Amino acid sequence: MEIEKITFPVRQNETGSLTFLEAQRDVPFDIKRIYYIYDVASGARRGAHAHKALRQVYICIHGSCKVLLDNGKEREIVELNNPWEGLEFKGLIWREMFDFSPGAVLLVLASEYYDESDYIRDYQEFLSYLEGKV
Ligand code: TYD
Repeated sequence: MEIEKITFPVRQNETGSLTFLEAQRDVPFDIKRIYYIYDVASGARRGAHAHKALRQVYICIHGSCKVLLDNGKEREIVELNNPWEGLEFKGLIWREMFDFSPGAVLLVLASEYYDESDYIRDYQEFLSYLEGKV
């Protein structure tokens, strides 16, 4: 699967923990946008789309969630449950997020401003788009 796990720096002492990340250093692109998904209803699924060009890193900064990854050939489920760990998408990947723990917050770092035309929201269209790229 075309993903990479990124481990962010942690500064921890008896008073608590701090994690930081810097564009082009800890995350391999310039961050133009940050958004976060929270208050997810029990049992709900989010995502169900792919991005044509957008680069993203997912970080579950509180609680846990699972991400289903599908590159058209194989599927993989990754659990995110550490505020110091990022999941970077490195290819055209269909993703669905589910199994959010109560209070979970999924933070997303994105390389571009929001652009609906970069989304593929239909799975069959995703497969066709992949074929066109090969
Ligand atoms: P969507 O990307 O479909 O959310 P998810 O990945 O959780 O399924 O976005 C939900 C709605 O929010 C949709 O109407 C588009 C809008 N939106 C923005 O306006 N700006 C953004 O940066 C994002 C990520 C979404």
